Amino acid sequence: GTADKGEFRHYMMKEIYEQPDVIRQCLEGRVSETRLLEQAFGVKAKEVLDQTQAIQIIACGTSYHAGMVAKYWIESLAGIPCQVEVASEYRYRKTVALPNSLFITISQSGETADTLAALRKAKDLGFTASLTVCNVPGSSLVRESDLAIMTNAGPEIGVASTKAFTSQLTALMLLTIALGRRHGMVDQVEEEIIKDLVKLPELVEKAIALDDKIEKMSQAFAEKHNSLFLGRGAMFPIALEGSLKLKEISYIHAEAYPAGELKHGPLALVDKDMPIVTVAPHNDLLDKLKSNLEEVRARGGELFVFADEKSKVKDADGLTVLNMPSCSDLMEPILYIIPLQLLSYHVAVLKGTDVDQPRNLAKSVTVE
Ligand code: G6P
Repeated sequence: GTADKGEFRHYMMKEIYEQPDVIRQCLEGRVSETRLLEQAFGVKAKEVLDQTQAIQIIACGTSYHAGMVAKYWIESLAGIPCQVEVASEYRYRKTVALPNSLFITISQSGETADTLAALRKAKDLGFTASLTVCNVPGSSLVRESDLAIMTNAGPEIGVASTKAFTSQLTALMLLTIALGRRHGMVDQVEEEIIKDLVKLPELVEKAIALDDKIEKMSQAFAEKHNSLFLGRGAMFPIALEGSLKLKEISYIHAEAYPAGELKHGPLALVDKDMPIVTVAPHNDLLDKLKSNLEEVRARGGELFVFADEKSKVKDADGLTVLNMPSCSDLMEPILYIIPLQLLSYHVAVLKGTDVDQPRNLAKSVTVE
């Protein structure tokens, strides 16, 4: 059953390996070969989505990073403004809701106190409706929201969230299509995205198959005290999520930066004792990212680059490349978090930490 570790040493590893199936489950009944089956979102969804002209996303932790990725998708594919904020800030400040805006919470547990408080506050702010992207049926967020899109990832036991994240991203991509349809997304684009999503579980399997190589790479981190994660565009939130994983379970200080900001501060930290992890799929930001990497190398930083063949980044002195399967730009965030999860896991195992229950952290923060 879902509650035992089976052949795995830790729940986290089991949950990382479950991700191809989790993505399939999240798509189940919601897509045909070429189309989103929007009726799967329930009867109330049509009216709510028809009205939506703006989005406010609220979440915490890993779920917040899923929200950050969704912002890139929603603004680029649906062309509607999308704001994202952590619940603990949003709930305590005076805010303004844009006209016709939908309030979205993202949560694995559906019980995070700050996220729930933000939803309750939003009800007085004039949002047209609330929607939660959530993994636990019957949870507080599901009960108190107008709409719920369940992520269907199954119980997640490891405190460091893995499969919940990839299922949230999958569900958020479906939601992006539903919004896009109402704002000029053409059928052909929808078809391409759906086909990419259907192919994604296989690509995730290929990424998981890199586990041995990533385990070897992890040795370079076990003795380090600091690390830097870089990405650009929708890969910036993936750098953030990768750094969160490393912090949570290996207790190594990990900071994430959008690579273009390097020169505004973190470059001063770069030396041979600070490994720099970069997610560098082939996309229209790659050339810019590569010049950021050169800035780092020129200062003696040791680089670990996750890239596909087309990225044409080669192993060199101070630069280790992990070759990822190629995928379409839109799927990159979902695919590239996999090796970062595996990297953190192996570093934590090398350091001998309590991987599934890291010190000072809780799976679900239900009190403030
Ligand atoms: C805690 C967990 C994280 C999680 C966050 C938000 O900090 O340790 O893994 O991302 O809460 O939880 P939620 O259930 O709202 O997604």
